[in-house]
Amino acid sequence: MEPALRVDVVHGLDVDPVKIEALNQGRSYIKHIESSAIAEAVKAGTFSASEDFRRIREVEAVIICVPTPLNKNREPDISFIINTGKSIAPHLHKGILIVLESTTYPGTTDEDLRAVLEAGSSLKAGTDFHLAFSPEREDPGNPNSKVAAIPKVIGGYTPACLERAKAVYGKAIKTLVPVSSCRAAEATKLFENIFRSVNIALVNELKVVYTAMGIDVWEVIEAAKTKPFGFMPFYPGPGLGGHCIPIDPFYLTWKAREYVQNTRFIELAGEINTAMPEYVVHRVAEALNAQRKAINGSRVLIVGLAYKADVDDDRESPSYVLMNLLQQRGASVAYYDPYVPVIRPTREHPHWAGTKSVKWDRETVGDFDVVLVATKHASVNYRELADYARCIVDTRNAMSGIPAKPQQVWKA
Ligand SMILES: NC(=O)c1ccc[n+]([C@@H]2O[C@H](COP(=O)([O-])OP(=O)(O)OC[C@H]3O[C@@H](n4cnc5c(N)ncnc54)[C@H](O)[C@@H]3O)[C@@H](O)[C@H]2O)c1
Repeated sequence: MEPALRVDVVHGLDVDPVKIEALNQGRSYIKHIESSAIAEAVKAGTFSASEDFRRIREVEAVIICVPTPLNKNREPDISFIINTGKSIAPHLHKGILIVLESTTYPGTTDEDLRAVLEAGSSLKAGTDFHLAFSPEREDPGNPNSKVAAIPKVIGGYTPACLERAKAVYGKAIKTLVPVSSCRAAEATKLFENIFRSVNIALVNELKVVYTAMGIDVWEVIEAAKTKPFGFMPFYPGPGLGGHCIPIDPFYLTWKAREYVQNTRFIELAGEINTAMPEYVVHRVAEALNAQRKAINGSRVLIVGLAYKADVDDDRESPSYVLMNLLQQRGASVAYYDPYVPVIRPTREHPHWAGTKSVKWDRETVGDFDVVLVATKHASVNYRELADYARCIVDTRNAMSGIPAKPQQVWKA
């Protein structure tokens, strides 16, 4: 018989002392998560954070949600999972549940993670401790999306592992979706993200083709989405961003090679989406050319640095690619983003660290040769933009319905 489950106290473990300090002081470091909820839980004694992995001895379940990036050769880097597994293993005890939530290729939980947990603990998964995979599903920037209401897919290493994971998540999540194995759950998450990547690539390709034909792809999407069955709208943009859609599909590509399988849709979608920033820069050149100007020597303002509307997350943002391409062509580049007041140091774009968002007023915005809308934050006033800016290249249809002067707005 399993001991009764208590899920009334949560302890957060991280290797980043800055995050731990913020959480213990009741401060959120993510824009869409309210500080008040954290502060309340800290005050009530139901939540605390630390770097001390010995705390695992006190808990009944551990949920691992660490980064799963690609390395320099665009291959999966599961070192964060492996290192976390190594830190957890010495503190495992009988009956504990370990769930991996990081997006990864099928086999990570029951091969790679299981191996480090068993080696470091001398306990056996499925016999001494429970092991499961349950992908994280989140819709950052959507205020109506609540984690408790998002159905949660769970796969267990054994049927008993699945039951234990269902008991834990059932305390917080309304709808659970059990699947037959950890691998099926891992494959489900990859399918969801590949589906997005492929459909975004399709609409990006149609954008280029329709633009050449003088057809507005945004108008076409609006019309197509009135079909009540068999259609789902996806929207074009300046390229893929965020830490999921540009990265996760390549976890499957890598693993598929082991089975001598190709992932042609994933590769093609990656190719089309990666080419988008070049296309947008080409449209910037056209817009400047119409003013008898070149990119070289022009002043360009990027509006929106975050990879997605209404979030403060600039990881893998195509805005950086646009800024780099424009700068390489001799433009002087600045940005405006109400959610990213200053660019933090990153491994990918160290040369932009410390750059500050410009002010939003007629004098500042009106001084640029061209303004490039890369992200459509709802809090940006696009009517003011039409009023302030000489020339706007719009990758998000942000200027739709706003009166503009001839040749002022260029869709890209
Ligand atoms: N953020 C999302 O919206 C989202 C949605 C779905 C899936 N995911 C997946 O969830 C995973 C995590 O994503 P994220 O955005 O939270 O990443 P993140 O980069 O914010 O990292 C999460 C935390 O892990 C910590 N960490 C790193 N190494 C550690 C270690 N050895 N031990 C303990 N903590 C460690 C980091 O300090 C960080 O606070 C990824 O696999 C991602 O693909 C994220």
